[in-house]
Amino acid sequence: MKLRVNGRLHEVDAPADMPLLWVLRELLGLTGTKFGCGMAQCGACTVHVDGNPARSCVMPVSAVGDHEVTTIEGLSPDGAHPVQRAWIEEDVVQCGYCQPGQVMAAAALLKAKPRPTDGDIDAALSGNVCRCGTYPRIRAAVHRAASGR
Ligand code: FES
Repeated sequence: MKLRVNGRLHEVDAPADMPLLWVLRELLGLTGTKFGCGMAQCGACTVHVDGNPARSCVMPVSAVGDHEVTTIEGLSPDGAHPVQRAWIEEDVVQCGYCQPGQVMAAAALLKAKPRPTDGDIDAALSGNVCRCGTYPRIRAAVHRAASGR
């Protein structure tokens, strides 16, 4: 089947029920997207499908169809997306495992709501769990990205 990922059309040989996460990681070599819980409960596997956050661990690849998938690798060509820059400025990352999902969720939030409140941030990222407790810095980084600093 054909799959549009990060602006490129790929031909992938995958069973229809294979989760998108494994197609990305195992067949396309895009290992930035992480496997966390496998049950859409932790958000580590968050990618964008047509710009909206989606849990790739539970999404069968056949459900993607013609929609555009964006992974952390495709967010910007050089790591200069405002969210990525803000993440560095605020020194958000601890172990890092959850962070690709956090960044993708934050980028989708800012696209939908360029000036989010604390409540908007908490609501949008509540499904992205961080075992290291980086939530205060995530919130600060989202505000920084929103302000264009
Ligand atoms: S930085 Fe370690 S799980 Fe979030």
